[in-house]
Amino acid sequence: MADDDYLDAIDYTRDDLDVEDLGDVKHAVRLVDVYRSFNLGKVEIGAIKGVNLTADIGDFIVISGKSGSGKTTLLNIIGAIDLATFGRVFVMDVPINDYDESFRASFRLNNTGFIFQSYNLISTLTAIENVMFPMQLSDKSKSELREDAMKLLESVEMDHRVDHLPWQLSSGEQQRIAIARAMANDPPIILADEPTANLDGDSGQMIRDLLVDLNNRGKVVIVMTHDEGILNQPNIQHYKMDLGELTRHG
Ligand SMILES: Nc1ncnc2c1ncn2[C@@H]1O[C@H](COP(=O)(O)OP(=O)(O)OP(=O)(O)O)[C@@H](O)[C@H]1O
Ligand SMILES: [Mg+2]
Repeated sequence: MADDDYLDAIDYTRDDLDVEDLGDVKHAVRLVDVYRSFNLGKVEIGAIKGVNLTADIGDFIVISGKSGSGKTTLLNIIGAIDLATFGRVFVMDVPINDYDESFRASFRLNNTGFIFQSYNLISTLTAIENVMFPMQLSDKSKSELREDAMKLLESVEMDHRVDHLPWQLSSGEQQRIAIARAMANDPPIILADEPTANLDGDSGQMIRDLLVDLNNRGKVVIVMTHDEGILNQPNIQHYKMDLGELTRHG
């Protein structure tokens, strides 16, 4: 097979894959011997070292590990925000490392929803505008998109704060908006990086419940966290990161 023959075999329509197609997907995420190193002058930091991980449709994967162990780096690789230095990365069976940034950008908009520790809402946009922001590639009209965003805000019980700016919202409320935004294009995979770390009891519990609910509705959920409330959820697969290496824990 010629070097670039595999390009013909790639299904370029996969970036707008929707729920009806999920039955055809072998693995939601498959990492094969993945490495990520950063070169800082003469120093090379091995942030991810030989990670293998498979997540199937319906899986709830929780990864814990000390600060600096590589959790965020790994999540960024799965989310096509960052590129592995070595190894194969498949998301919805698509080898995302093999594509250019423009494909990767639309692929990630459609296939992965990101939830961050510090919410990362756009400060100049209202709650509903933040939720609509990732919908920019959609063919729907603005009013239809607004309706979709409204439903997402209802699903996180934030439809009473539609026109608030992020600074006018509590931490827990901002994270609920961020979850609605992660769901904007109904992606099959939700990636969360310490989503409850900045939240107190009740707000944290609401976010935990929302993650469980998303998983019950068929989303693959991958969470980096130390949160006992998440680690104690039934049916999770627990992994630990240690100095860039990933091992199954339970
Ligand atoms: N862009 C970068 N350039 C250089 N080094 C980096 C970069 N990103 C991460 N690192 C290094 O890679 C290692 C893993 O970092 P990472 O942020 O993935 O850890 P983490 O497990 O998420 O930590 P925390 O729990 O503090 O969020 C660290 O040693 C970090 O300094
Ligand atoms: Mg981190």
